[in-house]
Amino acid sequence: MAKSVTLQIDDKELRLPVITGSEGEKAIDIRTLRADTGYITYDEGFGNTGSCQSDITYIDGEAGILRYRGYPIEQLAEHSNFIEVAYLVIHGELPTPEQRTRFSSLLTQEAPLREGMIRFIQNFPRDAHPMAVLSSTINALGAYYPHIASNNHQQDLEHFDEAAAIAISKVRTITAHTFRVSRGLPFNYPNPKLPYCENFLHLMFSKPYEEYVAKPEVAQALNLFLMLHADHEQNCSTSTVRMVASAGANLFASVSAGVNALWGPLHGGANQAVLEMLETIHASGDDGTKFIAAAKDGRGARLMGFGHRVYKNYDPRAKIIKASFYKALGSLGIKNDPLLDIAMKLEEVALSDDYFVSRKLYPNVDFYSGLIMRALGIPVNMFTVMFAIGRMPGWIAQWHEVAANRKMKIYRPRQIYTGPAPRNFVPQSVRKG
Ligand code: CMC
Repeated sequence: MAKSVTLQIDDKELRLPVITGSEGEKAIDIRTLRADTGYITYDEGFGNTGSCQSDITYIDGEAGILRYRGYPIEQLAEHSNFIEVAYLVIHGELPTPEQRTRFSSLLTQEAPLREGMIRFIQNFPRDAHPMAVLSSTINALGAYYPHIASNNHQQDLEHFDEAAAIAISKVRTITAHTFRVSRGLPFNYPNPKLPYCENFLHLMFSKPYEEYVAKPEVAQALNLFLMLHADHEQNCSTSTVRMVASAGANLFASVSAGVNALWGPLHGGANQAVLEMLETIHASGDDGTKFIAAAKDGRGARLMGFGHRVYKNYDPRAKIIKASFYKALGSLGIKNDPLLDIAMKLEEVALSDDYFVSRKLYPNVDFYSGLIMRALGIPVNMFTVMFAIGRMPGWIAQWHEVAANRKMKIYRPRQIYTGPAPRNFVPQSVRKG
C-alpha cells in the first residue's frame, strides 16, 4: 500500500503522506499543501474530507457496516441496552459490573431538574418546537453548572463523568417535561427505581392517579431506537459539536449546537418528515405510487427516509429497527396501521425502481424509526428530540476526543472567494437603484 502520493502542480511535485486507519481506510494528508503550493482543496459538502482521526465509530457505507468501538451494531442491538452502549461509546469499553453500577447511580442522581430549569421550560410557549426548547435548555445547563462549563478544557475534563451523566440523564427529563408543558399536564418526577427507558416512559406518560408501567417489548423497542442512534461518526451534528468544541467551548454549549444541527430536515428532522410524508400520502388517497413518480421527476418532494451520504447499501440500523418494529406493534396491540402499509409500499416500489437503485438510495434509519415512535405514543414533533436523546453519548464522546487532544487545532476551513473584485466605496447620495 502506498505510503505517500505525488501531486504535480504546475512544474512542482509534492509528496504527500498517506494515513491509514485501523480498518484500512486511506487518506492523503494535505496539511502542508497550502503552505507548500498556495493551493487548497475544494470539497463542498465534505464528501471527501476527513476532518479528524477518531476511535469511536466505524462505518463502511458500501458494505452496510456500523460498529461502535469495534462492536458490530447487530451484536449490540441483540445483547446490550442503551445505557451500556452509552458507556461503551463514551469510555471505549463495555462496563464491568462495578462501572455499570456507578454509571447508573450517577444517571439516577442527575435525573431531576433544578426548579429554575423547570420554570425555564414552563415559560416557553406551549406550542414551541421541542427542539428549540431542548437546545436552549441544554445550553442553559452551563449556567446551572458553571464549574463544569468553564470553557477551559482541562478544568471541564476534571468533571467529565459528572457532565456526561448530567447531559445523558437530563436530556430525558427535559424532553418529558417539555411534552408535559405542551399538553398542560403536571410534571412527573423521575423514579430512581426505574431503568433509563422505563423512567423516560414514566416521566412522559404517568398520570397522578395511574403509574405508566412500560411493557418489556415497549421498553426494549425504545432501548433499541436509542442504541441505534448512539453515534454515527462525522455527520452534520457531530461535526458541529466538534467544531464548537474545537474553539474550547464546554460540553453543554457544544452539544446544544449539535441539537440545532440535528433539527434540520435533511438530518435528524428526517424522521418527523417521514411521518408527515406518510400522513400526506394517506390523506391524498395515494398508496405511494404517485408520490414516488413525483419524487423521481423532481416535481414532488424527495422520498424522506431514503438515501444517505455514507450508506450506499441498506442502512444496517434500518434493518434492525424494522424487525423490532413488528414485535413492539404486537405488544402494543396495533394491528392495522395504514401508514405502515404505505411505508411498505414505498419501500417495495423504490427498491425495484431504477431511479432509486441506480442512485443507491436505500431506506435509512429514519424510514421506520418514526413509525416506532408513533407506536410508542411519542408525538410527531418530538421525533427529532428522541434522536437527540439517543445521539447524546456520541456527541459526548466526540466532544471528549476534541477536548482531551492537547494538539487540537481550532476547526477553520478555507474557502474559494467568488465575490466582486476590489472596488471603491460609493457615497449613498450617488448610489443608483
Ligand atoms: N428521494 C429522491 N431522490 C433522492 C433522494 C430521495 N430521498 N435522496 C437523493 N436523491 C437523488 C438526488 O436528487 C440526486 O439525484 P441526481 O443525481 O439526479 O441529481 C441523487 O439522488 C444524489 O443525491 P444527493 O442529494 O447528491 O445525495 P447526498 O449524499 O448529498 O444526500 C441525503 C444524502 C440523506 C441528504 C439525501 O439522500 C436526502 O435528502 N434524503 C432524504 C432525507 C433523509 O432521509 N435524511 C436522513 C438521513 S439518515 C439520518 C442521519 O444520519 O442524519
